[in-house]
Amino acid sequence: MTRATQFKLGVLGSGKGSNFVAIADACAAGRVPATIELVLSDLPEAGILDRARERGIRAEHLAPGRYRTRLDEAAERAYVAGLQEAGVDLVVLAGFMRILKGDFLGAFPGRVVNIHPSLLPAFPGLEAWKQALDHGVKVTGVTVHLVDAGVDTGPILAQAPVLVRDDDTPETLHARIQEVEHRLYPATIARWLTDTFGACARGPNLEE
Ligand code: GRF
Repeated sequence: MTRATQFKLGVLGSGKGSNFVAIADACAAGRVPATIELVLSDLPEAGILDRARERGIRAEHLAPGRYRTRLDEAAERAYVAGLQEAGVDLVVLAGFMRILKGDFLGAFPGRVVNIHPSLLPAFPGLEAWKQALDHGVKVTGVTVHLVDAGVDTGPILAQAPVLVRDDDTPETLHARIQEVEHRLYPATIARWLTDTFGACARGPNLEE
C-alpha cells in the first residue's frame, strides 16, 4: 500500500493494552489507515508488549530512568530515537503512565495523542472513574486529546459520554468507560490522520 493511504503509528503503554488491541484491530480491518510500527513500554511485564508481540508487532521495554512519574532525559532520548527510526507519523499514548516533557513533545509537535477516562477538563489525573463516583456525577465519559506539557490538558479532539448508574462500582464504571474508549480512540485516530495528512497525501492540485 502506498504512503498516500497508509500512515505509521507508534504506541506507548504501561498497562494491559486493551486500547492498543482496539487500535491494532481497527488498523488490520482497514478502519484506521495506518500500521502500528512500534510499541514501547516503561514496564517490562506490561501486557501491551505481549499483545503486540502476539500480533507480530515490534514491542520493546525501554527503561524510564531515575524519576517516578516521568522519563528522565536519557530515557526520553531513547524513546524519541526509537519512534523516529520507526518513522512514525503519530505517537499514540494508550495507558502510558509517565508524563512527557518538552523535549519529547518537541520531537513530535502536535503529533502525540492520548485517551483519558473522563470528560476533560473534569477529573484529570489518576483513576478518573473513581473521581467521578466520588463526586457523584451522573455522566462521565472519555476524551481523546493532543498532548501538551500539562497533565491531561491538551486540545480536545473528541469526547463521548458514559452514564453513571446508581449501583456502579469503580470496576463496573471503568469497564463501561473502556468499551467506549475502544470505539472512540480508533475512530478519532482515523479522523485525525485524514484531517492532518489527507490534503498533502493527495498531493497539490496543479490546476489551481
Ligand atoms: C485507559 O483507561 C485509558 O483511558 C488510560 O489508561 C487506560 C489504559 O488501559 N489512559 P489499557 O491498557 O488500554 O487497557
